[in-house]
Amino acid sequence: MITENEYDLALLRRAIDPQPLFFWSELPSTNSWALEQLACSELQPPAVVLTAKQTAGRGRQGRQWQSDEGCVTCSWVWQRPVDPASQVPVPAGQLAIAAALSVQQTLSYWLNDHRRSENALQIKWPNDVLVAGQKISGILIESTLATRPVDVIGIGININMQRLPDLTQPDESAKLQSFPRQPTSLWHHLGYRVPLTEVVSRLHRHLCENWNLLRDDWSTVCNAYVNRLAGRNGLVQVETAQGLIHGRCLGITDDGALKLETESGIIALASGTLLSWSLD
Ligand code: BTN
Repeated sequence: MITENEYDLALLRRAIDPQPLFFWSELPSTNSWALEQLACSELQPPAVVLTAKQTAGRGRQGRQWQSDEGCVTCSWVWQRPVDPASQVPVPAGQLAIAAALSVQQTLSYWLNDHRRSENALQIKWPNDVLVAGQKISGILIESTLATRPVDVIGIGININMQRLPDLTQPDESAKLQSFPRQPTSLWHHLGYRVPLTEVVSRLHRHLCENWNLLRDDWSTVCNAYVNRLAGRNGLVQVETAQGLIHGRCLGITDDGALKLETESGIIALASGTLLSWSLD
């Protein structure tokens, strides 16, 4: 059973101070709650919304996010950083990049993570984090429409889960996917449980650091992300609204789009699902 005791709330509040923590022992979705509260002006950024048990988690592209005991499900509600010179908010696509990098940096504390290790952490564009090729974390960023938007950065990470949802059932797109759909958890790689309070505290610190870099030094975030990008320099296959696109992965643009060299030239994909990639 999931209990509040999985989190040491006093410790966590100190770790994220001065940002307030809204903790719920059970909630349908931390992102939905945050968006509802923002809509009726009951919540002001910055804030962190955490639940020990998320019952109707939402994923990208209308998918569900299933979580069980031992999964971190948390949303950060922050104002979009602005470029200090132009006072223009940074591109939305950069947020996904900075968030995925923050998750990778957080998990690398526990995993013996270097690029060739068996527990290598990779980022599957735009913001899934993989361990040994299997998904361990997903990110859903939703934003309010305003001159300076407020972003809800929802992050799910499978930490202490011994059983994981079985996603291996064939579906419409399964025949195209060489990406293994079965997720993994940190427990499967470590063989022991880690304190969820520490995961959220460390993640909060990395997110704060990277959000500051979005304002001041995008290239540092971009380079660290590309260094972990699955398929970098290799041949990739991406499913887009316009169909399947094949090409060589050159990295990302300053908008966080995937840069590909294709038969018809260099293109940037703002959205799509990476289906397969060759090993680098
Ligand atoms: C994906 O992989 O498609 C994204 C999954 C995002 C899940 C997180 S868990 C916390 C937050 N609340 C939600 O309902 N979704 C995000």
